Amino acid sequence: MEPNRARARELAAESRITGDPTGWFEQLYQEQEQGQKVVPWADLGTNPSLLEFAGAGKKALAVGCGFGDDAQQLAAWGFETTAFDVSPSAIRACQRRFPESAVEYVAADVLAPPEEWTGRFDFVLEVYTLQVLPPELRPGAIRSLAGFLKKSGTILLIARGREENDPEGSMPWPLTRRELDAFAALGLREKSFEDYFDKESPPVRRFRATYVK
Ligand SMILES: C[S@@+](CC[C@H](N)C(=O)[O-])C[C@H]1O[C@@H](n2cnc3c(N)ncnc32)[C@H](O)[C@@H]1O
Repeated sequence: MEPNRARARELAAESRITGDPTGWFEQLYQEQEQGQKVVPWADLGTNPSLLEFAGAGKKALAVGCGFGDDAQQLAAWGFETTAFDVSPSAIRACQRRFPESAVEYVAADVLAPPEEWTGRFDFVLEVYTLQVLPPELRPGAIRSLAGFLKKSGTILLIARGREENDPEGSMPWPLTRRELDAFAALGLREKSFEDYFDKESPPVRRFRATYVK
C-alpha cells in the first residue's frame, strides 16, 4: 500500500475509535503542513474528470456572440472556442476587449455559415439570437445550429419564451415550444427543457433547453 494512504487510514481508524470520525483530516493536513506528504488525494492539479465534464479537449461554438462574454466563459471552462456574429463590428469589439483571448472570433452569418463548421462542434451555445431573427428565418438558423454538431454533441439554447396563443410580441420575439420542436424533427433529442422567469426586473419568461445529436 502506498505510504500516503496508509497514514490516512491509520488516522481515520484512530479517529473513529475516539468518537471523532472526521477529526483526522485536520491532523493529516497539519502533518502535510510540516512537510510530510501524507494527503493521498493531493494531486495538486485540476481533477481530470472535472476537466472532462467541462470543456477540455472539446470544441465549442458561440452563436451570435455579441461582445463575447459567453464565448470567453466557454474558453475559461476549457473549450476550444470559436465565436461568431453577423456584425464585423461586434467581432472587432470582441477582439479589442479580449486581445489575449484563446477564442477565435469570426464574422459569419448563421444562415450561411462556413462549410467547414458542419459536424465540427461538441457544444453549440445559442443565447438570444433566434429571437432577434424574424420567424421565417428561424427554421434555417435552427438547421445550421443542428448541422454544427458532431455526433453526441449538445446545443444549449437560451431564449425568451411564450405560449403558442400569446401575441407574437415585438423584437426580441419570444419563441414557442413548437418552433423548437424543429430540433427534434432534425433528429436531435431534447435532453432538458426549462420554462422559467429570470431574475431581471421585471422578470422575463425564458426557455433554456439542451438538444443532443
Ligand atoms: C440579442 S444579441 C445577443 C448577443 C449575445 N449572444 C448576448 O447574449 O449578449 C443577438 C446577436 O445576434 C447577432 N446576429 C443577428 N443575426 C445573426 C446572424 N444571421 N448570424 C449571426 N449572428 C447574428 C447580432 O449581431 C447580435 O450580436
